[in-house]
Amino acid sequence: MSEKNLEVSEAQIAVHWQEEEYFPPSTEFIAQANMADAGVFDRFSLDNFPNCFKEYADLLDWDEYWHTTLDTSDAPCWKWFVGGKLNVSYNCIDRHLEKNQNKAAFIYVPEPVEEPPVAITYRDLYNRVNEFAALLRDFCGVKQGDRVTIHMPMVPELPITMLACARLGAIHSVVFGGFSGKASGERVSDSGSNVLVVMDAYYRGGKLLEHKDKADQAVKVATDDGQEVDKVLVWQRYPGKYSAETPMVEGRDYFVNDLLKDYTGKRVDPVPVPAEDPLFLMYTSGTTGRPKGCQHSTGGYLAYAAGTSKYVQDIHPEDVYWCMADIGWITGHSYIVYGPLALGASSVLFEGVPTFPDAGRAWQIAEQLNVNIFHTAPTTIRMLRKAGPDEPAKYNYKFKHMTTVGEPIEPAVWRWYYDVVGRGEAAIVDTWWQTETGGFLCSTLPALSPMKPGSAGPAVPGIHPIIYDEDGNEVTPGSNIAGNICIQNPWPGAFQTIWGDRDRYVKQYYERYCANPESKDWRDWPYLTGDAAMQAPDGYFRILGRIDDVINVSGHRLGTKEIESACLIVNEVAEASVVPVNDELKGKVPDVYVSLKPGFDSGKEIQTKVIAAIDDSIGKIARPKNVYIVPDMPKTRSGKIMRRVLAAISNNQDVGDVTTLANPEIVDEVRKLVQGE
Ligand code: PRX
Repeated sequence: MSEKNLEVSEAQIAVHWQEEEYFPPSTEFIAQANMADAGVFDRFSLDNFPNCFKEYADLLDWDEYWHTTLDTSDAPCWKWFVGGKLNVSYNCIDRHLEKNQNKAAFIYVPEPVEEPPVAITYRDLYNRVNEFAALLRDFCGVKQGDRVTIHMPMVPELPITMLACARLGAIHSVVFGGFSGKASGERVSDSGSNVLVVMDAYYRGGKLLEHKDKADQAVKVATDDGQEVDKVLVWQRYPGKYSAETPMVEGRDYFVNDLLKDYTGKRVDPVPVPAEDPLFLMYTSGTTGRPKGCQHSTGGYLAYAAGTSKYVQDIHPEDVYWCMADIGWITGHSYIVYGPLALGASSVLFEGVPTFPDAGRAWQIAEQLNVNIFHTAPTTIRMLRKAGPDEPAKYNYKFKHMTTVGEPIEPAVWRWYYDVVGRGEAAIVDTWWQTETGGFLCSTLPALSPMKPGSAGPAVPGIHPIIYDEDGNEVTPGSNIAGNICIQNPWPGAFQTIWGDRDRYVKQYYERYCANPESKDWRDWPYLTGDAAMQAPDGYFRILGRIDDVINVSGHRLGTKEIESACLIVNEVAEASVVPVNDELKGKVPDVYVSLKPGFDSGKEIQTKVIAAIDDSIGKIARPKNVYIVPDMPKTRSGKIMRRVLAAISNNQDVGDVTTLANPEIVDEVRKLVQGE
């Protein structure tokens, strides 16, 4: 076996489920679906590429209509709808006012049960976004192309801040609220933001958590990195009252609610920006330690988010749609904020955790708000199934459509979702996609194809996947043979580049199977998703997991290298290795192996320090299941740590042939330490 083949890949330890039966959508669902015409796949065939995407672009209002659908002159940085100008905040708010100003754009559900849901109408949203945009422009000097970092929880002020940036043509970079101040600071620095927008506190699991302290840490990290932060804008969870302990820094920190008094009734004309101007950055984990800023466009992104929301999510203007993700991830950007709002829908925004105060909370909210489209991740479904398998039956709601996203869903969990949550009536879509892709890649179109538990389904219209083997040969379509899944063609939702690092973008996503690096023809540049997959004879894809050093925890990506570098902050640690271990609820979680510098003894104290370092560098989301202190790591003769072997040990699997290692004897020692004698 070559060293290359010895490297760990999550796909190698993926669970292989058996083929499942089909579940057809109900006739009631089909009768009302936005897309019930099978001809859509012909319209979006490669023969009609790229012009087919005009259908999505025409869901938007353009200040100037575009002249070129796809410009490939800077391949593989694709430009969509070139020549066009538009404004995202106009498309998500202003254009709905004439007919629907009194309709709820968002329905905000605070976590404390005693705080009632708040409907924010399109008119309210218009007023609040205008006022905040005026503040950003006139008080902070934010203008088109500037970056603004937003580190906020799930409150309406988060999308208000994003839409205010979009109104000015500024680029927002939202950092997931659960990330640490350090993680936020690194993103502030990388994006070159001199304005940071935060919230003082928020509720989670019944507690009002301080959040402002993270801003102080973020500013420190950014400043140490050479990035000045001029202004920290602090929204208050209770306007007029400060719910954090950390002092406000004079001349730097400002309460938004105080400043807004000067902007009451102010209006800001939406700035029409070129379609290919960036709308936002979304940082995600990759194969190296530093998270990368995926740069998403304005026109292509919004068109794709709107098109997929309409046809895959089946959102109609009269629906009450609830995506129970966090806006701090791409799912929330595309499918809580931009897609639903572009379509003029009502989107539910929930502050808290779905098990607070009890495992029926999600279904109670669904009943209370009459939600009919529900969207969540397998990890949440597993959690709700475990915590309250009979809870859904106690509430009177009716879902017509449900989504699962972010990780493979086990057929048994899928069935509970279908039978108990959806009462056997709702159509389910299993949507496979990524931060980089802006919107869905594979999923059934809910009225057109039957569901199959455990499979994401065929590609969505206009997406043409291809599976390659390690040597670049195409795996026979429909052969159920696993390989590296790529997308043959560009699509409007695809990210444009990595912020400030085009080389890394090309190398990581396009180099692997590129036929000719000089080529300007998109056919030569398949997009490497980084996932392993196989395609069944019926054309459905089953996603097996990552082929790189990324762990998918509860549907969120964490780089093993990021966690390893956090471990190395601990003085006693000499080497660290992080591998995915299967977890009943979260799918995968990190297991940490560390070896110590000479002269240090293992003990609980070091484990505690390692955990604290990870919490501090990344956030609690990256907490390992176990921290093992080992005498040495299994290594190849060239000194590479064999993560595959550690992963096999963590998952109680066969370690395979280890005779070629430099130190084969260590494998059994580590195994005993982890699994016992
Ligand atoms: O491995 C795939 C997995 O999540 C990765 C993307 O993670 P992220 O960029 O954080 O975006 C998550 C939300 C879109 C993918 O490379 N993944 C995502 N959706 C699915 C999935 N794995 C299996 N089935 C899915 N439906």
